[in-house]
Amino acid sequence: MIGDINNCHMVDLPKIEDHRGNLTFIEGGNHIPFDIKRVYYLYDVPGGAERGGHAHKALNQLIIAMSGSFDVVLDDGKNKKRVHLNRSYSGLFVCPMIWRELDNFSSGSVCMVLASNVYDESDYYRDYSAFITDQGL
Ligand code: TYD
Repeated sequence: MIGDINNCHMVDLPKIEDHRGNLTFIEGGNHIPFDIKRVYYLYDVPGGAERGGHAHKALNQLIIAMSGSFDVVLDDGKNKKRVHLNRSYSGLFVCPMIWRELDNFSSGSVCMVLASNVYDESDYYRDYSAFITDQGL
């Protein structure tokens, strides 16, 4: 499969506004186009740190800034796009075969990722040139 950053898009999540505090929920296969098999999150990210720096062969993900803000740089080998995330009621859907970097983390930010599969190191490209080759470039 070839990745295309145009297939990555923001997903507006339901937001139940309430004077006691707002509530957002996410149903796999309903609000996002995959079933959720794993949730992980990045936190206590030191200033200036960068995360990511890899692509996935088959994994679908939704990335949400649960608190604070950060940037996700999407790269399919042909085009690049920087997306700023700073809302807990909207997420960035990232399809397979997209190289991603995360940076510009604000202090105290939390990045939550919903993933379509359990952790599998063999699903990763950690070498950019191997990723580019398999993108047919
Ligand atoms: P990695 O995916 O490279 O982190 P990021 O993309 O956020 O910078 O993972 C960092 C380390 O954590 C790596 O050794 C693999 C491990 N890891 C797991 O064991 N399970 C997981 O679900 C994830 C996402 C990572």
